[in-house]
Amino acid sequence: MSALKRSRVNAAFACRCRRVEVATTVLRHVGELTTNDPSVGDHSPMGRIFDAAMVVDDERVLWVGPDAQAPAADEALELHGAAVIPGFVDSHTHLVFAGERSDEFEARMAGRRYDGGGITRTVHATRAASTAVLESSTRARVAELFASGVTTVEIKSGYDLTLEGEARLLEVAGAFSDEVTFLGAHVLPPEYANRRDDYVALVCDAMLERCAPLARWADVFCEEGAFSVDESFAILGAASEAGLGLRVHGNQLGHSGGVALAVELDAASVDHCAFLSDDDVNQLAASNTVATLLPGAEFSTRAPYPDAARLVREGVTVALATDCNPGTSYLTNMGVVIALAVREMGLSCDEALLAATWGGARALRRDDVGHLGVGARADYLVLSAPRAAHLAYRVGTPLVAQTNRARRGARAGTP
Ligand code: NIG
Ligand code: FE
Repeated sequence: MSALKRSRVNAAFACRCRRVEVATTVLRHVGELTTNDPSVGDHSPMGRIFDAAMVVDDERVLWVGPDAQAPAADEALELHGAAVIPGFVDSHTHLVFAGERSDEFEARMAGRRYDGGGITRTVHATRAASTAVLESSTRARVAELFASGVTTVEIKSGYDLTLEGEARLLEVAGAFSDEVTFLGAHVLPPEYANRRDDYVALVCDAMLERCAPLARWADVFCEEGAFSVDESFAILGAASEAGLGLRVHGNQLGHSGGVALAVELDAASVDHCAFLSDDDVNQLAASNTVATLLPGAEFSTRAPYPDAARLVREGVTVALATDCNPGTSYLTNMGVVIALAVREMGLSCDEALLAATWGGARALRRDDVGHLGVGARADYLVLSAPRAAHLAYRVGTPLVAQTNRARRGARAGTP
């Protein structure tokens, strides 16, 4: 039995309890198919197949190969040479917030430095907002990400910083994604200004107890002006004991020690990485921790971009994400993130695409998304372009002609 027939039978068997028939679709005449599966096509990390075909059902990729060998399916989609890529995995966003801070952006463009101080303004606005307003504004931002080709999105809390308030933000986030992150340690809330230790204790104890069941991950802003390495160590240790996976905002504004801490604790990802010592790079390369780069933040804070090319050269797994938030990166377009990484961080077009798909999946420790190998979720994008390189080449042009997001149980239709 061919691999395709076998997987169709398996799919039908797996779905027997839910429905009678599994419809399959074959995408024909894909000009350039990027699978990110090195075992197929040109055997590069991009796993590229030219003049390709791909067969999917509503959950999984069933077959990829040359169009000349395309098997039959229930329906065929003629792509006339368009490029197909995996859906983007945006592994770092702060989508649940109220208000905006364009005045700070204007001040930075005129020369002011970003120091994280504005986070408190968003905390005040978010605390004052109704849940309905937070839901509708989050939905709108998710829709913008979708339109740019995101099919998996991580969403953090961190703009309330009270026990019930953080739980409320996590509940809003959880309506849109399974990749939800507790960021109670974003900054010290104003009412704890002279009681740092009390706030750290609150996060480590009652807040984590309330919030851990609502999240998959915990994150800490480990930076001068936010939380020290020791405080971050305590918070992440408690989060790990509460069963959460770990992430770190590290080395955004200086050599904060966040990268070394993330590696020491086997965090899935350390994000920003704008200031890296040789030691940081060596430790990352030898670790299972992804360096997630957020070029929207450097763009919007007029900060120097990290040298992503060096990280790739040294063997670090790199992800790219939007960091969508009202302070440092009010950006919901992964195509622009890719273009910035190519133009300003030294990545090749292929390296940037890999980081925005496979890299994001690694940063979430997922192997079912971020690629189009057989068995992956059928999350793919049809571009109105013959090659994926157009994402950077035609920066700002909406090139995602079609987004296919595989069916996902109860919350189908949300990232
Ligand atoms: O990832 N740096 C910490 N958190 C966000 C910014 C938050 C804000 O300024 O509102 C970031 O850049
Ligand atoms: Fe962030």
